[in-house]
Amino acid sequence: CGIIARVGETDDAVDELLVGLENLEYRGYDSAGLAVKNGRGPTVFKREGQISNLKDLLATEVPAGGLGIGHTRWSTHGPPTDANAHPHTGCSDRVAVVHNGIIENHDELRTELRERGHTFQSDTDTEVIPHLVEEQLADGATPEQAFRRTIRRLSGSYAVAMLADDSDAIYATRSGSPLVLGVRDGKYFLASDVPAFLDFTDEVIFLDDGDVVVIEPGQHEITTLDGEAVERPTQIVDWDPEDAGKGGYEHYMLKEIHEQPTSLRQTLRGRADPTTGDVILEDFPSGTFEGIRRVQFVACGTSYHAGLVGSHFIGSRGLPAQTFLASEYAVSAPPVDEETLVVGVTQSGETADTLSALRRAEAGGARTLAVTNVVGSTAARECDDALFIRAGPEIGVAATKTFSSQVVSLSLLGERLVRDAVGRRSDDVQDVLSALSDLPDHVQRILDYTKAHRIAKRYYDCDSYFFIGRGSVYPVALEGALKFKEISYEHAEGFAAGELKHGPLALVTPATPVFAVFTGRHDRKTLSNVKEVEARGAPVVAVASETNEEIVQYADDVLTIPDTHPDVAGILANVQLQLLSYHAAAQLDRPIDKPRNLAKSVTVE
Ligand code: G6P
Repeated sequence: CGIIARVGETDDAVDELLVGLENLEYRGYDSAGLAVKNGRGPTVFKREGQISNLKDLLATEVPAGGLGIGHTRWSTHGPPTDANAHPHTGCSDRVAVVHNGIIENHDELRTELRERGHTFQSDTDTEVIPHLVEEQLADGATPEQAFRRTIRRLSGSYAVAMLADDSDAIYATRSGSPLVLGVRDGKYFLASDVPAFLDFTDEVIFLDDGDVVVIEPGQHEITTLDGEAVERPTQIVDWDPEDAGKGGYEHYMLKEIHEQPTSLRQTLRGRADPTTGDVILEDFPSGTFEGIRRVQFVACGTSYHAGLVGSHFIGSRGLPAQTFLASEYAVSAPPVDEETLVVGVTQSGETADTLSALRRAEAGGARTLAVTNVVGSTAARECDDALFIRAGPEIGVAATKTFSSQVVSLSLLGERLVRDAVGRRSDDVQDVLSALSDLPDHVQRILDYTKAHRIAKRYYDCDSYFFIGRGSVYPVALEGALKFKEISYEHAEGFAAGELKHGPLALVTPATPVFAVFTGRHDRKTLSNVKEVEARGAPVVAVASETNEEIVQYADDVLTIPDTHPDVAGILANVQLQLLSYHAAAQLDRPIDKPRNLAKSVTVE
């Protein structure tokens, strides 16, 4: 879901809201709407499906107005219909509300409101908000009082923005869901993320949970729910709208795959010195990691796979480390104490499952650290410390460049943790740092010479796709399969290479290509697994070093990667697999940047 709101003197709010809504599209949505106000009460336009449907609705007459709110909805309560699309109004159309998140007590509130005669037009949890507000207005409250009183009644996670008649302001607040304020020359924007209004301003105020913001042309006020003024600094973000555009590529995903040499350079800049073996990370407010005895990673989706690489890296260097799915950790966390570091790996910094796992860890007394791409995100602000992966904005729903930057960041962090906690540098620190420094050029070489498009063409019409890897590239096999299924809609699974023979081998046939990832470590064992699938007639595509001659004899095809440290090889192999998935999905004509049913940032548990 995404929120956009705009306040200005000129009455072209609708045009700017539509731009904002389109910029939010990448977050995933299944309906869109907006409300605009000029003198009279708010007028609402909303439609199920693509933003083009909403534009069709507005085609005959673009309503004039300086104030407006807009929303892209990704269904959580009730199906994607016109009625369930936001904004929502009460019985009297005096207010219009957009909301992200979940109102956990909506059932009770709805029952209560029904008993007092309210009728509901949608199945959403959101609709209780305008009904509560309009009751307050009917009792003589000002719109601001009505808004504040209503927010007090809500439990759950939310970012809310509201328009009301009798008022030239937009009222908004956040609690557990993202909301940022954009400022330019007396004009204001509110949005779920910065790229939504980047076409209009780069001056941003990051709001905190509990902040209530009232914006009118030329002025804004941020207070607590109790009305106490709070100061939030204005920051300039250095993402230009170009960065958030497709830059000549057919899809954001392809652009982002190709950005990896640059994004990796940004991630690494000033942080690694291969000659001395020094890792120079920013200062962490909580100090060094001396006294940390174990590390737990919590994450979802692609970030979970990056976490698995991280725990393998750290564990193999003598510091106990494990990776957990955040949604599981949140309900059954292992024991933690002040000697435990819990690292939330989250590109967006807003994934509800990950935030919830981090909160659980914190409540148990662990030290917490966010590894994220978004400065000012909830994870970055709530954790004791934050490490930014500096990959730049990622728009494609399928994570690509952020995975690479996460793995690099976790390797640097790993070296730092081992030094602080174990009390000595890992033996191969210089080799690792030198491999990391070569990584941007190595990725460029893959992008220049890849055969992934040809392989994708050869195999795109098969029953299932299997990905196998061992040790540090077992997570790469999982990530290869996740990417493949996300964007091609073909069945794909990743397995630990040695586990194939314990069950999944039953699925292997000549119509199930197997992609086997090699790193230069444990290759012999993985090669035996390759022979097992070949014996069942499955085509084998190896992803391996360009100098590995033995594998060529057994594989039907090879996607080569430059020779590097085995713990870094996975990032390179993964780039080949990203390209493979992209080209397979392109062959099948899938909507690559916005796969069905998926959202870039999932802010509900
Ligand atoms: C969603 C996205 C995935 C992503 C996951 C975690 O499910 O579709 O691509 O890996 O969230 O996101 P995060 O922002 O926490 O890394």
